Amino acid sequence: MIPESYKPYLSGILISEGFIQDRITALAAELLHDWQDLSSPPHLLVVLKGASTFFGDLLRALSRRHANSGDLRVPCTFDFVRVKSYEGTESTGNVRVSGIDLESLRGRHLVIIEDIIDTGATMAKLVPMLQDLGAASVQSVSLLQKRTERACGYRGNYVGFEIPDAFVVGYCLDYNEAFREMQHIAVINAAGIAAFKDFEENHGPAEYTK
Ligand code: IMP
Repeated sequence: MIPESYKPYLSGILISEGFIQDRITALAAELLHDWQDLSSPPHLLVVLKGASTFFGDLLRALSRRHANSGDLRVPCTFDFVRVKSYEGTESTGNVRVSGIDLESLRGRHLVIIEDIIDTGATMAKLVPMLQDLGAASVQSVSLLQKRTERACGYRGNYVGFEIPDAFVVGYCLDYNEAFREMQHIAVINAAGIAAFKDFEENHGPAEYTK
């Protein structure tokens, strides 16, 4: 199933496209169920770029399920954001959200849509920052969460798959912007790490750049 061009650079597929879609269908049902009692539609904050494919598929699954539910309310609203996390000595606060008027989030039920939680450092900063803005509630949905000794203890409220501590690409997850368009989630190997090290400058291994 690995695309021919990427074969030398991946050690294998971790989660295939079909498994991802099945899990998303189940996640959508769980979310709609849990959102029933909210006083206003949840507002999804989609973290670019990595979560965009996950979000597209999740939104379709949500709307299919909602359309046949008999529920007349709008199921959710959404915005796209960019989140920059800064390394620092403090454990919270070093996070910048752009692409949105933060004031508009006051009083809303926010749901962060993420591709992957690795150490959890980004979310451990982002959640309290949004709470401090006056959000009514803040939860997270992450397609992936890594099991890693480097974890800071943050666990997503909804997690699609727990994965081993490996660097994964595909399904919009990238290594230096490469591999995002691949439909499956795969583990990059040492050859891939080396070949795409400077991808943004040189566009990859020689056979890719002719
Ligand atoms: P954290 O703050 O350590 O949880 O890192 C979260 C961010 O690191 C994610 O949103 C990704 O952008 C990036 N990241 C962490 N692990 C991976 C991976 O295996 N593949 C691609 N990106 C990753």
